[in-house]
Amino acid sequence: MDRLSIRGGRPLNGVVPISGAKNAALPELCACLLTAQAVTLENVPRLQDVATMFKLIRNMGVKVERNDVDGVVSVNAGGLITPEAPYDLVKTMRASVLALGPLLARFGRARVSLPGGCAIGSRPVDQHIIGLTAMGAEIVVEHGYMIAKLGQGLTRLQGARIATDMVTVTGTENFLMAATLAQGETILENAAQEPEIGDLAEMLIAMGAKIEGHGTSHIRVEGVDSLHGCRHRVVADRIEAGTFLCAVAATGGDVLLTNGRADHLEAVIEKLRSAGASVTAVDGGIRIQSSGRLKAQSFRTTEYPGFPTDMQAQFMALNCVSSGSATVTETIFENRFMHVNELVRLGARIQIDGRIAVIEGVEKFSGATIMATDLRASAGLVIAGLVGDGDTVVDRVYHLDRGYDQMESKLRALGADIERIRT
Ligand code: EPZ
Repeated sequence: MDRLSIRGGRPLNGVVPISGAKNAALPELCACLLTAQAVTLENVPRLQDVATMFKLIRNMGVKVERNDVDGVVSVNAGGLITPEAPYDLVKTMRASVLALGPLLARFGRARVSLPGGCAIGSRPVDQHIIGLTAMGAEIVVEHGYMIAKLGQGLTRLQGARIATDMVTVTGTENFLMAATLAQGETILENAAQEPEIGDLAEMLIAMGAKIEGHGTSHIRVEGVDSLHGCRHRVVADRIEAGTFLCAVAATGGDVLLTNGRADHLEAVIEKLRSAGASVTAVDGGIRIQSSGRLKAQSFRTTEYPGFPTDMQAQFMALNCVSSGSATVTETIFENRFMHVNELVRLGARIQIDGRIAVIEGVEKFSGATIMATDLRASAGLVIAGLVGDGDTVVDRVYHLDRGYDQMESKLRALGADIERIRT
């Protein structure tokens, strides 16, 4: 398992390009299942999770090619498709559940492994099943698989009004994709509002779907008989951008994030400004300037447009070396504090009480060997290493590779002393 070796204490300066969003590329690759025509996706990030999604849809019979020159990905689901997502692939990437809606919508059947839990929580998919059942699907769970087909006498999914028990990002995406080919109108109440959903909707509209209200909690879809191909550019990754903003805030420096979208990170940027960093939206990106020790900021993770749970570990690392104390409340996942014990090994002062972590800032981290436990935790640990006194080695960085496109080379280009140790 590869490790990252980081010698802390250096400021970050320069320009960093923000890649396409993992959490937009994954549903958008599944959306290609909705048409027999060719789809072209630009700005698809080079990530382990994207490689897994390529494998998943290729396994169904979809043709997927990435052009080595410009990185553009061509997808064609026009051949013979086996509507299945096997356990050995789904267990490594929960986002595989996003195949369920498109497969049901286009082929009327699907056999998709239950994703199982993951490090940050049990991650059930009960709402996906409830919503698709409301659209006329019959879904039984057998031997760890969701076996889905159209209800008695139905030849296609039916439009429905879906109000989930809680806001679910991939649930909203599954319903949105399924509704594009359903008979009649579908209304999604308390839909997720993340920018990745808006980006998926724009791609579906380019394919001929009739959608309005995306980006709000109330989405309306009028089903059509078929969708055609399109060319779509994946939106920039707001979590990668937020991660780099927290890194510069912690180390100090002056960095321009090209392609970063400040309008997709307002909650995080507001907290960074309160902490004392200067963050400005500039033409084509975001600029951050930070010097000296910042002030610790309390925050609660909530659904978009609130503070994103995917930024919790990164901002906690920043809080650990800021002045004063702060509380971090994780309201989305039940077990998303696994980075805390690793930060404590670096000298952080953190007390956990259920879903609340109380942080008392220290001057600096002391370098040590630590272990990544999940994707965003590993990003938080890298930030900690960048400000650690001495050497920090982050183990199990395969977690990082799932969701960050060449993070260590991007950080090195900004002046960080970081290298990958291949083992
Ligand atoms: C998406 O996961 C993201 N993944 C996650 O990013 C992100 O943390 C999460 O949304 C919240 O923003 C992708 O988009 C691929 P949810 P998702 O359904 O859709 C509960 C990363 O680091 N719930 O919005 O799985 C669930 O347990 C990843 O990039 C049910 O109970 O999250 C959680 O408590 C990590 N039943 C809450 O809802 C369901 O059927 C929100 O989950 C669905 C969800």
